[in-house]
Amino acid sequence: MCGIVGYAGPNDTVEALLNGLRRLEYRGYDSAGVAVIDDTGGVSVRKKSGKLVNLEDLLKASPLEAAGTGIGHTRWATHGGPTDVNAHPHLGDDGRLAVIHNGIVENFAELRDEVTSRGAELLSETDTEVVAVLLGLETASGKDLETAFREVVQRLHGTFTLLAMHQSEPGKIVAARHHSPLVVGLGEGENFLGFDVAAFVSSTRRAVVVNEDNIAIITPDSVRITDFTGAEVDFEEYEVEWDAGAADKGGWSSFMAKEINEQPEAIANTIRGRIVDGHVEIPELTALGEDRLKEIDRIIIVACGTASYAGMVGSYAIEQWARIPVEVQLSHEFRYRDPVLTDRTMVISVSQSGETMDTLMAVKYAIERGVTTVSVCNTQSATIPRESDAAVYTHAGPEVAVASTKAFVAQITALYLLGLHLGRVRGTLSAEDEAAAVEQFETLPEKMAEAVATHEQIAQLAHWMADTRSVLFLGRHVGYPAALEGALKLKEIAYIHAEGFAAGELKHGPIALIDHGQPVFVLVPSPRTSPLMHSKVVSNIQEIRARGARVIAIVEKGDTAVLPFADDVVRIPLTDALFDPILQVVPLQWFALELSTAKGLDVDQPRNLAKSVTVE
Ligand code: G6P
Repeated sequence: MCGIVGYAGPNDTVEALLNGLRRLEYRGYDSAGVAVIDDTGGVSVRKKSGKLVNLEDLLKASPLEAAGTGIGHTRWATHGGPTDVNAHPHLGDDGRLAVIHNGIVENFAELRDEVTSRGAELLSETDTEVVAVLLGLETASGKDLETAFREVVQRLHGTFTLLAMHQSEPGKIVAARHHSPLVVGLGEGENFLGFDVAAFVSSTRRAVVVNEDNIAIITPDSVRITDFTGAEVDFEEYEVEWDAGAADKGGWSSFMAKEINEQPEAIANTIRGRIVDGHVEIPELTALGEDRLKEIDRIIIVACGTASYAGMVGSYAIEQWARIPVEVQLSHEFRYRDPVLTDRTMVISVSQSGETMDTLMAVKYAIERGVTTVSVCNTQSATIPRESDAAVYTHAGPEVAVASTKAFVAQITALYLLGLHLGRVRGTLSAEDEAAAVEQFETLPEKMAEAVATHEQIAQLAHWMADTRSVLFLGRHVGYPAALEGALKLKEIAYIHAEGFAAGELKHGPIALIDHGQPVFVLVPSPRTSPLMHSKVVSNIQEIRARGARVIAIVEKGDTAVLPFADDVVRIPLTDALFDPILQVVPLQWFALELSTAKGLDVDQPRNLAKSVTVE
């Protein structure tokens, strides 16, 4: 949701901006634009609705001669449709300054009235143009860019990452953040700004996170950070773990295909270093103090989308091992219900990006009420882990496709490790359960590779089912959230109606949907480790089969009980029932990808969706 890049340096400015925007494409957007200080010393803009290729075509037809400073933006429409005019950058001070913005300026109507009453004319429907014009009125009155920018950002309500440059100070970009991220990239004789490190990781891996309510001022040779009053702020640089290649497709047909294939490694990376002498030990939790962990009497997991389903899967395991009641709430519902929170509550947020605004706001709400906050996150130094008391990183590597895959399995893995750590510290985890779980973790990456190898079978299945208009997914226990995730994947990237149900709920309503030929994926629990649930799910399969459903059963290898009732059987390796969803979800990911491909859709960037939703 909006990509933001700034560049100050001697290299090809337009290429630096486009390169950054390409790497931020995964965020989702519907128009794009760049502004540069051109070789005549003025500000020049090119912007276009649609994908980056449209902007690239425009730049070919009408090239920009940049003099070394520029800002670039991909916009996900909020105020005003995705048109050329509404695309960023927006101009102020009679075209002498340019502004780009992510977020929402909540008091924009009031500011719009103010600027129009001061004689300004607005061309677009955006809140951002109002800010650009307001800033322009201030610079036109003789203030320098930094002073004017500071005054304006203090007047904005809402959320923003805001970048501005002015032709009277070429070589300088000012950038502010408020509830929206901003990172500086430190180069040799060049500096970058980005929404996240992907914006510049191909040029430099030295980065500085700009803190909340701070302003960064960059030139090719200098970086300064101040607060909103102008007081200088110290900052520390860090080395970005992800290398540039990790964010390339690397020969795969899509990022999603690449990321599904990376799942064995993603899981191995989540586990690495966290099992010591047969015990699970998460140093970030140890740092919270044993007493604090022992006192926790309730856990609330907050998350959105796929991360919420990972949270649901994790809730079963944490409750089982740590004997703490765990509930999962959608981040955007959490605070509105006035939740009962005490100093013995732990709020665990789950977020791939660590920037999802709904989840960030839920975490802030929890922090204000004095609860212990733990972030399960994939993105180093993102806002949510930095705000939380402890950060448990999933280390799955950059996830670019909008539809989350490897982050999902890594999140479940991290939540399981967290449950085992809590169970050990609290004395609720038996030695046998710990040993069994550790054994599962040791073989999980290998088993994941086998699950990934279901691709060919699923591709055939998808080929036969290319005209499918509706698909149902059934699961029980941890298979239930995995079924919800399977349905979400299909909706997200193949635009096919899909629903996930708890298998036991079927007869309470959804069975009415079953008609002749209705495809139903059923996630069958392990018969060895979960015989009772297994037999119940086999009964559910018989019930739907009797009503004409086409059953595709995801079963453990060697499970023959379903054979008489299933049209298709997809086999995954033997594992303990709790670990089933980590493997069972993989064929469902492939199915969504193959149907999306069969329909000729953009697998990685589905319509209307953003990878990281940074507005509430
Ligand atoms: C968006 C994405 C989903 C993702 C959700 C949560 O809605 O389209 O794929 O699951 O955000 O993202 P997060 O970064 O917090 O895990």
